[in-house]
Amino acid sequence: DKVAVLFGGTSAEREVSLRSGAAVLAGLQRGGVDAHPFDPAERSLDELKGFDRAFIVLHGRGGEDGTVQGALELMKIPYTGSRVLGCAVAMDKVRTKWLWAGLGLPTADFEVVDKESFSPNSAEDIMARLGSPVMVKPACEGSSIGMAKAEDAASLQKAIDTALQYDDTVLVEAWVHGPEFTVSILGEEALPAIRMETPNVFYDYEAKYQSQTTQYHCPAGLSDDDEQALRALALRAFKAVGASGWGRVDVMRDADGSWRLLEVNTVPGMTETSLVPKAANAVGVDFDTLVARILAASY
Ligand code: DAL
Ligand code: MG
Repeated sequence: DKVAVLFGGTSAEREVSLRSGAAVLAGLQRGGVDAHPFDPAERSLDELKGFDRAFIVLHGRGGEDGTVQGALELMKIPYTGSRVLGCAVAMDKVRTKWLWAGLGLPTADFEVVDKESFSPNSAEDIMARLGSPVMVKPACEGSSIGMAKAEDAASLQKAIDTALQYDDTVLVEAWVHGPEFTVSILGEEALPAIRMETPNVFYDYEAKYQSQTTQYHCPAGLSDDDEQALRALALRAFKAVGASGWGRVDVMRDADGSWRLLEVNTVPGMTETSLVPKAANAVGVDFDTLVARILAASY
């Protein structure tokens, strides 16, 4: 099979995708796959007609949100990971949380702000309801882009204005103490949890991709019962949004020990040192085997 490795793209996470895609491409090639780079920012998707299969390593909108998946469906080209619905829902943190809340899955209390309806008074109201501090996020972004912590109405106003530059819809969440954990999903299996430790205010873009001070703990240091409960919760949360194949569920633990689901990534980071490869390593699956297994599950 001739395989197109889709990476790059035009989202705010392009740089991350270039790194993920280069690693996946190299891993597939080392495994003997006839894999080729394909950047939708530079080529028309029509050119995918010459390929038998697609490995999607595009992060963010226009790649992780169901649009490319839909094009591949129509072209009848098998592709890796979640289908259109799972990608579209998971890209949208607000709809993801509505779904989880509807199912009684634990996620931080939140308010939704729309570009049109936002007025300066709203910041005060939101803070009165959610308490302080809060976390502000564009609804459809990744890698913590456009996110900020706010401790008073003025800084909340500023944080919302910033987030609105990335999306017309913004999520304001009640603060969760932390630490942050992540659970990788491979097939039907939840892999060992990883706990992130950062000196930053939260696990932000710098902590994710640039910092030398972020620490990753796998095993995560949980009791067996807590580890199993977290993995089961992550798998339920993953399936609830319609995700499938592989991905990663981000979760935080609050001060009282309860879990708070953050989001599902249907195309998580895939550099050799990214979180999913780390979790796979913990169960004896090396990077090349991991990408081969993800590709083998494409349809
Ligand atoms: N959105 C980034 C790529 C991640 O979740 O790993
Ligand atoms: Mg993400």
